[in-house]
Parts: sequence; structure tokens; C-alpha cells
Amino acid sequence: MDLKLEGQRVLVTAASKGIGFGAAKAFLEEGARVVINSSNAKRLNDAKDRLKSIGEIHALPADISLHAEIDKLVDGGISGLGGLDVLVHVTGPPKPGTFLELDYDDWMSGATSLVVGPAYMAKRVAEHMIRAQTKGRMVFLSSYVIREPVPSLALSDVCRISSASLVRTLARELAPRGIRVNGIMPGYIQTDRIDQVVEANVRRKGISRAQALAEIENTIPLGRIGTTEELARVILFLGSEVSSYVSGTVIPVDGALLKSVG
Ligand SMILES: NC(=O)c1ccc[n+]([C@@H]2O[C@H](COP(=O)([O-])OP(=O)(O)OC[C@H]3O[C@@H](n4cnc5c(N)ncnc54)[C@H](OP(=O)(O)O)[C@@H]3O)[C@@H](O)[C@H]2O)c1
Repeated sequence: MDLKLEGQRVLVTAASKGIGFGAAKAFLEEGARVVINSSNAKRLNDAKDRLKSIGEIHALPADISLHAEIDKLVDGGISGLGGLDVLVHVTGPPKPGTFLELDYDDWMSGATSLVVGPAYMAKRVAEHMIRAQTKGRMVFLSSYVIREPVPSLALSDVCRISSASLVRTLARELAPRGIRVNGIMPGYIQTDRIDQVVEANVRRKGISRAQALAEIENTIPLGRIGTTEELARVILFLGSEVSSYVSGTVIPVDGALLKSVG
């Protein structure tokens, strides 16, 4: 299917590896022109080097939890690509921990990176799309924990729920401008983040790596952890005109992990 993404201008945040990197690669393979971002310039440039044979790629380092850096990133993306058609917003992983393990500074940092940062970047991108009369698309990557909280990820449980409201609020406000806004709740997707979770369980429970992995896989009805390529295909769908009548929704991509309905 032709997703009609050839020449489309795409900004992907938190993309030096993992989910963001997979999304950027998928857009490049569809002929889009892509800006990738992450907070570490060296890791980001390494990622750019791995992608540059596929298509037009730019790298803009910025910490997407900080006001001035978000401004710099959005302005740089717009001037580098001559505008923006698609924002794929991924955040860095929040600090893990149970509720009582977290302190004031942890909550401030979680709220800044998972609530304030995405909202402010959405505002900046929306203002640009409205000004340029671009019928753009935004895709916010959240987590399945917004439906079914995980005790060891309290920051994520509490703060990420805002992504569902951000998507719904923005989608309704921007629909008259032709801008669509959606989100995705990934379940378990194979990235360094999953390796860290597995290693933490190995240490905490004194079990082998294979056992720790099996524990996770046994909770997933499809019986395995998903790949960044499988997730990227859904991001492409929401970031293209193939999803032209979809806005305001947050789609699980989780191998049937979620048990709840609605
Ligand atoms: N993998 C999963 O199964 C899964 C499931 C649900 C939700 N998620 C969430 O999805 C997001 C991405 O996860 P992942 O698995 O792809 O993690 P990952 O492989 O660890 O990649 C995280 C990315 O975030 C970037 N980053 C970190 N802090 C940043 C900041 N302040 N500003 C800009 N970029 C930043 C990192 O690059 P630099 O270090 O270069 O900054 C890196 O590119 C996380 O929020 C994670 O919690 C993941």
C-alpha cells in the first residue's frame, strides 16, 4: 500500500535508539524526510550515520523536557525541513520505582518529561501547522500502563495517563484545522529498555536471564515481545493519510497484553 509519505517532513523525538529510531527508519524507508532528536549529540549522530544511506536525515540534539530546548528543536526542525507534516513524540524512559520509592524531585522530573514537555511541544508544532495551513499529524507514544498500572513504574502510571487526555483534547481542538492527533500504548517492545527491565528482575529476584525473559513473555498472550518494526508500522499508519478518519484515539500495540476493555 502506498502510504503517500514520499517527501513528507517528519520530526521524531527520542530517536537515537529503540522505538524512536525504529519509527524514524520506517518513515525514511517510505521516502519521508526526517529529523531525529535525542539528548545526547554523540549517540544521535551515531544513529544518523546508521540511517543516512536510506534517505534525507537530519539530527538535532535537545532535551525534550526543557522549555528552551523544545523551542530550539521545533524551530530547527521547521527550518531544516522547510516545515513539518508529522510529529512522532517519544519520551526518554522515566525513572522506575514503586510509589514509596519516589521523591519530590522524581515527580517533578516525571511531570516535566511526561506531561509538560509533550504538551508544550504539541503547542509549538500545532501553531506552526496552523500558520502553514498544513493538514498535519501528531502521534504520541505512551504506554499500556495508562490502562493497567504496573507497581514498579509508578511515575509512568501516574504521569502518562495525561497523554490520553492530551491526545483527545488536541484532536478535538485541532480537527477543524485538518490536523489529526493520536497516540499509541506499546506493551513490551524489544529495546535496551526491556533489557534493563530484565536485568533488574535478574538482580532483584535472583533468577536467570532466560527465566526473567520468560516471566515477561508468559504475560503476553501472543507469547513474545514485539519488535520496533511492528510498532513502527502502526506509527506509519497514524502518521499517514491512510488513517484519515482516525483522530483522538490511543491504540494498544501489545500482543493482547491488556485485559481491560475500553
Ligand atoms: N520498550 C518498551 O517496551 C516500552 C513500552 C512502553 C513504553 N515505552 C516507553 O517508550 C519510550 C521509548 O522507549 P525505548 O524502549 O525506545 O527506550 P530506549 O531504547 O532506552 O530509548 C530511549 C531514547 O530516549 C532518548 N532520550 C532520553 N532522554 C531524552 C531527553 N530528555 N530528550 C530527548 N531524548 C531523550 C534516548 O537518547 P539519548 O540517550 O541520546 O538522549 C533514546 O534515544 C520510553 O518513554 C519508554 O518508557 C517503552
